[in-house]
Amino acid sequence: MELPGKRVVVTGAGQGLGRAYAEGMAREGASVLVNDVDAANCHDVVASIRVAGGTAEGHVGSVADWDDAGAIVSACVEAFGGIDGLVNNAGLHAVNKFTEEDPVFARKMVEVNVLGGIYMSSHAARQMEAQQSGGVILNVTSGAASGLSLMATYGATKGAIAALTWNLANELKELGIRVNAISPAAQTAMVATTRQVRPSTVTWGPELMAPLVVFLLSDLSHDITGQIVKLWGTELQLVRHHGPIPPAITRDVWTPAAFAEAFATELHDRLQPYQRDMEGYVPFS
Ligand SMILES: NC(=O)c1ccc[n+]([C@@H]2O[C@H](COP(=O)([O-])OP(=O)(O)OC[C@H]3O[C@@H](n4cnc5c(N)ncnc54)[C@H](O)[C@@H]3O)[C@@H](O)[C@H]2O)c1
Repeated sequence: MELPGKRVVVTGAGQGLGRAYAEGMAREGASVLVNDVDAANCHDVVASIRVAGGTAEGHVGSVADWDDAGAIVSACVEAFGGIDGLVNNAGLHAVNKFTEEDPVFARKMVEVNVLGGIYMSSHAARQMEAQQSGGVILNVTSGAASGLSLMATYGATKGAIAALTWNLANELKELGIRVNAISPAAQTAMVATTRQVRPSTVTWGPELMAPLVVFLLSDLSHDITGQIVKLWGTELQLVRHHGPIPPAITRDVWTPAAFAEAFATELHDRLQPYQRDMEGYVPFS
């Protein structure tokens, strides 16, 4: 067992990937606080973990609400005596033309995907600080953060989560809290909506992703933080950090013409891909 005695929260664990993470971690000895906004699914996952001999409690609530997020962490502390790990899995998704963006759903996606991760992480980090025990926060990003058509707002929320991961990995290091993110892929209800507009080679189920979550929540990854880990079926990759590309180019005065000259010369071969699957820059034409 890789997670004996670990007390972990998985948000959005009523179905799909979150359910697989919760069940996978319970099999490895973790006590799991299962969260979802869907009460029936939440209780079903708790029951299934218990039937399999694991330890789980459920808490229904929205990660996008500050008080609910606090109550989810408190439920873990009340049930198991503390919190050692948080998987910020809950998320919403939409596939649509950006020229047809729905402003109400766009706001909801930002609230759940971005504020949900921020609220849950803040409550969990406060509790871990009070425990003086360290801990692990695992966020969930997506290939859409690197650029895909028809998923602009979703991709923007997942890019925000990548930035949250790098920022928290720095700030929470002194509290002994590791912060990583995964970029998963599996056939779930979410992917079914993507499939309606884009072919996909994803054929595997969410259970294939659970061992990666177990690894990143366990002491096996005790020295790993600030990383974004992509698992695509059997292919494992790290995702590049978004830093400036050295060396910097210097001019005494940057005029528009000087920028044009720099883009035509020194920066020409450094232009970056702007799509998940692109090898190099594709010019605008
Ligand atoms: N499925 C994939 O291939 C894939 C790829 C990249 C990233 N992801 C990410 O993985 C995570 C899980 O995706 P999935 O495919 O299992 O999706 P899913 O739609 O099957 O499950 C999402 C779960 O989150 C819950 N949820 C929604 N809003 C919530 C809220 N406010 N508070 C608590 N729970 C809430 C839903 O009720 C649902 O049970 C998401 O963050 C998603 O963006 C999935």
